[in-house]
Amino acid sequence: MALEKGLKIAISGKGGVGKTTLAALLCYLYSREGKKVLAVDADPDANLGMALGFSVEELQLATTIADDRKLIKERTGAEPGTPGALFNLNPRVDDIPKKYVIEKDGIKLLQLGQSSSGGSGCYCPENTFIKTLLNHLVVGENDTVIVDMEAGLEHMSRGTARGVDVFIIVVEPGQRSFQTAKATMKLARDLGVKNIFAVINKVRPEIENIVLEALDFLPILGVLPFDEEVINADLTGKTILNTNNKLLHPGIKIKKNLEQYL
Ligand SMILES: Nc1ncnc2c1ncn2[C@@H]1O[C@H](COP(=O)(O)OP(=O)(O)OP(=O)(O)O)[C@@H](O)[C@H]1O
Ligand SMILES: [Mg+2]
Repeated sequence: MALEKGLKIAISGKGGVGKTTLAALLCYLYSREGKKVLAVDADPDANLGMALGFSVEELQLATTIADDRKLIKERTGAEPGTPGALFNLNPRVDDIPKKYVIEKDGIKLLQLGQSSSGGSGCYCPENTFIKTLLNHLVVGENDTVIVDMEAGLEHMSRGTARGVDVFIIVVEPGQRSFQTAKATMKLARDLGVKNIFAVINKVRPEIENIVLEALDFLPILGVLPFDEEVINADLTGKTILNTNNKLLHPGIKIKKNLEQYL
């Protein structure tokens, strides 16, 4: 179908299920068809850049939002790491993509980064930033924004949910992941997200049907197979997009299904 405006897709799910893998795959597929892709790594433990094939050196050159205390203060009215600070209602984010993105093969990457206060710090200003960015960013029909979210639900807010068109929950075969998917779906619905889907990852053929049945509470966009090559690519620091084709066709199917649903 022809979309009048571009899509903003958020990818969520339990830790380690394959959010970054799916995010990278979709970035690649949208970019391949000529869309301008903005990949947003909203995980403080950032690794979407590596999955997209950026080198360590290229990634080191990038300024993350969390790195830039002055920017984040100006734009959100709060010091990073200050819980409960008051934010301005309308931080200006219009120029952020130009200043804070690095680009490779037509994919632009924006990283929220890790707050320098470490694990103890509040990630609230960064989350406010992403919320504002998603709500204010003008996404034309030739643009696609793909957000690789942090695992877990604590950071989810109405503002973040309102800013995205599609919410994909990645699920791996396992009861714990199914439960997280259910909880995430409920929260996303409560927060007002309309298009909530699942993608099942790391699936072996013999268990595919069991998994599909267990997930009857969510529309499923598709299934990605378990593939040793994905692990090998991660081990050797390579992008799955160059080393692996087994995810490509299922990925194309997932994208097609998504477009049919919308
Ligand atoms: N289809 C697959 N087959 C085999 N291994 C996979 C598959 N998808 C992902 N993996 C592996 O599982 C691990 C986690 O994947 P990934 O980083 O994409 O998950 P994540 O949900 O983004 O994790 P995190 O919560 O840490 O951000 C990686 O080592 C990755 O290589
Ligand atoms: Mg990840």
